[in-house]
Amino acid sequence: MSKCNKLGIGLAGFGTVGSGVWNTLEKNGALISERTGKGVSLAITKILVRDPKKSRSTTSAVPSEILTTHWKDLVNDPAVDIVVELIGGTTDAFEIVAAALLAKKPVVTGNKALLAERGVELFAISRKMETPIFFEAAIAGGIPIVKTVQDSFIGNQIHSFTGIINGTSNYILEQMTLRGIDYPTALQEAQSLGYAEADPALDVNGWDAAHKAILLATLAYGFPIDPANIHVSGIEQVRPTDIRFAKSLGYVIKLLAVIRERDGGAVELRVQPSFISHKHILASVNGVFNAVSVNSDAAGESLFYGRGAGQGPTASSVIADLVEAARDLAHTSHHRGFLPYRESGTLVPIEETSTAYYVRFDVTDRPGVVAEIATVIAKHKIGISGTHSPVDASNPDAEFVDMVFLLHSCPFGKLTNALAEIETLNCINSTPVVFRIENLG
Ligand code: NAP
Ligand code: HSE
Repeated sequence: MSKCNKLGIGLAGFGTVGSGVWNTLEKNGALISERTGKGVSLAITKILVRDPKKSRSTTSAVPSEILTTHWKDLVNDPAVDIVVELIGGTTDAFEIVAAALLAKKPVVTGNKALLAERGVELFAISRKMETPIFFEAAIAGGIPIVKTVQDSFIGNQIHSFTGIINGTSNYILEQMTLRGIDYPTALQEAQSLGYAEADPALDVNGWDAAHKAILLATLAYGFPIDPANIHVSGIEQVRPTDIRFAKSLGYVIKLLAVIRERDGGAVELRVQPSFISHKHILASVNGVFNAVSVNSDAAGESLFYGRGAGQGPTASSVIADLVEAARDLAHTSHHRGFLPYRESGTLVPIEETSTAYYVRFDVTDRPGVVAEIATVIAKHKIGISGTHSPVDASNPDAEFVDMVFLLHSCPFGKLTNALAEIETLNCINSTPVVFRIENLG
């Protein structure tokens, strides 16, 4: 630390979250300083942006001399004690975080893609330099789930997490369900509200949630997880017809992250749109809200709920980490951040994970189609609990129609084999869409 408990912050990124950090420090800085103890105060001394001329929605003027477009100006500035990375992505962000750690400057980041994709390299540098990386904002926005898992649950064996951990997808699904608006309009709204990633494909293809799920699993089970080894699908394929059909059966559709430790220690990890009972508590988690249900041996079932994205909630988590880093530097406490503590572990192959399924086929409407599909499903020894063909009221004589099958629980691998065979039938026009039906108890 360069000065008497006055800590300089280098803020890399001044968009939705970065400007939220500025505004919150402006508003609550004195209170934070009092609470931090020993007169620790935090001041943003350098800000990295792409375009210094852009107008910023901050509650007070930002001196132009603290803006820079060169990340080295920020990391190498002796007035910067802590580096906050909020630019996103895995390339420049990696350079910044690695350089900060190598300069022994603690890092606070909200960048789940960076840590899930390149955490192995960064945590190794963190360990070598004995300099922590904090990432509360990277999982579930304003919900303090990282500290909860890492510190509050340290005495627990965690059996599972079941969570809604992408605010954008949850917002889109809710708006499509309640207001009946189409998918592109709902996505546009989520972007303008500051919920979506700079590349919103990550939100809707399930990978933002998957990055967070990887981090949660690493926190709980201690080993890094290669994103290439997990099964992810997003909400892009959810259509109003699925939402309506789910509702008629007493379900809602949620993008669900499921992380579960099996007997023997292998970890099941998947992110998929899923049907869940409308009576389950996660069914009422709407809009930008996230929820993570944690099942652990000592504490039992716990549920964490709050805003999963957006300026204020995310800034709240960034500032909590900043204070932790500041306390560490000012020696009022010692926190090592998080480091994976096992070199490796075992993931359950997705083919071996079982649930019931909702499968939507795009078929040519002619007699015998249901029987053709059902014959293949039966051949693969998968039980059918129902079939349905939602009629398109605007086009009742359509040649191509949706045909929905509800299937009993079976391993995903068995379903995949059956679907591969069904796809070769003449009546099938495109790849079937599969959603899980989760029995969450
Ligand atoms: P954002 O609004 O797009 O802001 C990104 C900021 O970074 C902008 O100020 C941009 O500069 C700057 N920037 C981007 N690339 C840069 C580069 N190569 N060099 C210099 N500056 C660069 O993003 P955000 O929503 O604040 O998200 C930031 C991070 O927080 C991401 O990792 C995201 O996943 C994470 N996060 C976001 C939320 C949320 O609700 N938004 C929640 C949790 C975590 P200009 O302003 O000049 O363009
Ligand atoms: N784009 C992310 C979401 C931001 O919608 O959940 C919070 O991580």
